[in-house]
Amino acid sequence: MRGLFLVMEGPDGSGKTTQINLLKEYLSQNGYECMITREPGGTEIGEKIRKIILNPQYKEMSPVTEMLLYAASRAQLISEVIGPALEEGKIVLSDRFVDSSIVYQGIGRNLGISTVTAVNAPGIGIYRPDGIFFIDISEEEGIKRKKEQKKLDRMEQESIDFHHMVSEGYRKVLSGRSDVMKIDGSQSIEVIHKKIRNQVNVLLENRWKK
Ligand code: ADP
Ligand code: TYD
Repeated sequence: MRGLFLVMEGPDGSGKTTQINLLKEYLSQNGYECMITREPGGTEIGEKIRKIILNPQYKEMSPVTEMLLYAASRAQLISEVIGPALEEGKIVLSDRFVDSSIVYQGIGRNLGISTVTAVNAPGIGIYRPDGIFFIDISEEEGIKRKKEQKKLDRMEQESIDFHHMVSEGYRKVLSGRSDVMKIDGSQSIEVIHKKIRNQVNVLLENRWKK
């Protein structure tokens, strides 16, 4: 794998999409070839799966079905987009990756971290993020921002207890890991962007030194 794989993680409304767009702009201005992918989705098949998963009509969807659909969308994205781009030496910026499933399905839906990890393993193969940016925010603030931005999807319409498990789950799963940079999401968009940018520059220096 010759490229650089960077992932944005955090609860709904933490600012992932905002930050990934700013990062892409910064990297492109500095001459790097980079692409953004999103989960669920990012491929023709994945976008169809996304429509099913996030449709608020499907209240009956079982947690296991949900886990498998996210894993299927991810497997397709890796084989069709992320894997080839990394092999070509590109920078891939992904809005969410497998830690979203570990937190939302493993902890939020109570399916267990080991089950979710095992289900996702064949689709992920060798591809591991070089850096994960975890934007930490309270569930109340995140959902408030989402309500102001758009109509809530099936996951966002979940109870505040579910979203509380998600934000606590993120803190548990991503704390203390050397591949994760935790950022306080209550800071301004510009301050967060600068912190991410500085860390990405360090990762880029290390990658190109190797
Ligand atoms: P996510 O992709 O994590 O769900 P978004 O980037 O879509 O989050 O942001 C959700 C909303 O919150 C948007 O309206 C965005 O402009 C706003 N927002 C993002 N970051 C911040 C921030 N640091 N402070 C205040 N509002 C923010
Ligand atoms: P996202 O596209 O980040 O939402 P938005 O478009 O509102 O910014 O993610 C869609 C939802 O899917 C979000 O509530 C988190 C959830 N999700 C999981 O539950 N498991 C997963 O593996 C992924 C990737 C997302």
